[in-house]
Amino acid sequence: MTTRAIVRGVGHYLPERVVENAWFESFLDTSDEWIRSRSGIERRHFAAEGQTTSELAAHAARAALEDAGLAASEIDAIIVATSTADFTFPSAATMVQAELGMTTGFAFDVQAVCAGFVFALANANALIVSGQARRILVIGAETFSRLMDWEDRSTCVLFGDGAGALVLEAAEGTGQPEDRGILASDLHSDGRFREILHVDGGVSTGRTGHLRMLGKEVFRHAIEKLADTAHRAMDKAGVNSSDVDWVVPHQANIRIIQGTAKKMQLPMDNVVVTVQDHGNTSAASIPLALSVGRERGQIREGDLVITEAIGGGLAWGAVVLRW
Ligand code: UT7
Repeated sequence: MTTRAIVRGVGHYLPERVVENAWFESFLDTSDEWIRSRSGIERRHFAAEGQTTSELAAHAARAALEDAGLAASEIDAIIVATSTADFTFPSAATMVQAELGMTTGFAFDVQAVCAGFVFALANANALIVSGQARRILVIGAETFSRLMDWEDRSTCVLFGDGAGALVLEAAEGTGQPEDRGILASDLHSDGRFREILHVDGGVSTGRTGHLRMLGKEVFRHAIEKLADTAHRAMDKAGVNSSDVDWVVPHQANIRIIQGTAKKMQLPMDNVVVTVQDHGNTSAASIPLALSVGRERGQIREGDLVITEAIGGGLAWGAVVLRW
């Protein structure tokens, strides 16, 4: 028998304020047409003033717990993937733990920027498979609107805020690809590329800083590295493209999503796309898309799902799971 980490529940939360592309036309030399055609983004949600990442995360966590039919006291651990935690420390995960009234178990953040949720899933899987936890809330939550330079049209039109969460639970499997749960993960990073996507602030500078991105450079790495990690994860899981029901990619740019699907030899009919409504929500984009994909009736129990993401670091990776 093999221990598998299966999805027991899923949920998400989006802040109330929806910002359409046209809003940026009022203060920037940009257009709805440029944003749509270059990125696929039509609108995004922005957190209200004072609304923190841990608040967004707690909302998504409650939705996932409700979907799972579980109380917070039945969870052993919380992992939050984020680059926009409320404070330098404590972690957003411990803030969520307190918010949920959970006084047992453990909680910590994973910081791998846009690839954060994939890294968090791989870590949660390892904790479950090694027997250190039976049920884990894995959350991706971000308030990237707080990192924007509103005078930089090449970045501020691309990002949004939100949160998504999964409840993973230990279950017995056979060790075969037909099992439900996480079948394989594949993680990479290469700090030589840190300058092409970074925040120019932090503890060492005394200010939060703003997101800086050489978009074309990141784009150049994205399709190649995402397709490569997806293929590696599929190989490890013992499956191939024709077995995949749904690709749930990081939602940064529709052209990256399309290019990667093509390299994976998968039609767009098999891809969950939410970038038009959420923009790039960094580590929150995959759990948001998983939750919306489930809500739309796209992802069903037994479906083979592959998630893939790349972001600052660079850090990138993929997870193959059977829903
Ligand atoms: O989630 C982390 C990973 N991040 C990503 O995956 C993002 C990767 N990169 C991208 O998605 C794309 O590179 C962008 C959407 C950021 C940009 O698309 P692009 O096709 O690479 O455009 P570009 O950067 O080459 O810019 C083309 C032109 C430039 O003008 P010139 O120099 O050709 O005259 C920019 O100044 O578009 C201009 N531009 C804009 N024009 C109107 C840049 N931003 C804007 C804007 N509105 N908001």
